[in-house]
Amino acid sequence: MIEQQKKRLFSGIQPTGELHIGNYIGALSLWVEQQDQFDSIFCIVDLHAITIPETIVPEYLRKKSREAEAILIASGIDPERSVIFIQSHIPAHTELTWILNSITPIGWLERMTQFKVKSAQLESISTGLFDYPVLQAADVLLYKTNVVPVGEDQRQHIELMDDIAQRFNHLFGEVFILPQPMIRASGARIMGLDDPTAKMSKSLAEKRKGHAIGIVDPPEVIREAVMRAVTDSGKETRFDCASPGVKNLLVIYEVLSGKSREAIEAYFEGKGYGFLKRELADLVIATLEPVRNRYLKLMAEPAYLEELLHRGAERVRPIAESTLKQAKDLVGLG
Ligand code: AMP
Ligand code: TRP
Repeated sequence: MIEQQKKRLFSGIQPTGELHIGNYIGALSLWVEQQDQFDSIFCIVDLHAITIPETIVPEYLRKKSREAEAILIASGIDPERSVIFIQSHIPAHTELTWILNSITPIGWLERMTQFKVKSAQLESISTGLFDYPVLQAADVLLYKTNVVPVGEDQRQHIELMDDIAQRFNHLFGEVFILPQPMIRASGARIMGLDDPTAKMSKSLAEKRKGHAIGIVDPPEVIREAVMRAVTDSGKETRFDCASPGVKNLLVIYEVLSGKSREAIEAYFEGKGYGFLKRELADLVIATLEPVRNRYLKLMAEPAYLEELLHRGAERVRPIAESTLKQAKDLVGLG
């Protein structure tokens, strides 16, 4: 019997800052769950990272890319079954971006929430930051991707790539597949532990201790961050009635434990936030300590990490080059 070809899954992560439990819950753990259902490709997007000029410190960027690779593998991405590669190793990403730039109206990019949020925090805004979503569209479209597993903050970027793909297909001919987002129903937007009104982010984690839990933080640091998390003066532990800080803790517990909301509510009812926090700290540590241990072992094997990146790039290169060629032929380039 001919084995039916699997659909393609593609996602990316920026090698900046410290990866945190929001990245783990919203993205990495979903990737691990899904990797065997699809032909899965994971990309460390160093070209996206340099759109914030402060990250252009050559040794830092290279080191961060290898750290991200090690965290992906330590979290459960199997580099034999799935591909992990570095975006800048495949020049087709930038080349397709240029072509897509020419058919993407500026107005579409001006609407992007992430651009508005990031640019409001910067003194000088790079052209690359504005163009960031087009590069992201090129990432996904090059691999004829069916599904893109991401956190909630990326939904708008995926809708945009759908628009760009439709426009290209309409103008020049059907080459791109329209990608679908895959977003967790619960856990797609983990909030800061110190401020549950702000999304947990790498940039806030750099400025504020206690904002995030790092995926490879030592157990005692994790426990301290959980115990200090903002709650309220009550005792409410029902998902729909809890204050934002408590709800955030319950959601983290929900995803990591895999238990139903009813079971969780019954378990925590009337026990107070101290108990919830101790239980949650135990669960987060039990989840992340093995990841940290695998990560530390992998980081001691730089040649192995390098070899995997090389192999990853060689596996995806023919796919990217073939799609790029189709697009160039349709446009009349070359
Ligand atoms: P980034 O750190 O921006 O490269 O994001 C990598 C992945 O993690 C993307 O799929 C994001 O949507 C996801 N992500 C980032 N922050 C969070 C968060 N606070 N909660 C859930 N998912 C997140
Ligand atoms: N912009 C994404 C983020 O910040 C990272 C990313 C780049 C990505 N290219 C991608 C995600 C392609 C999914 C698919 O999280």
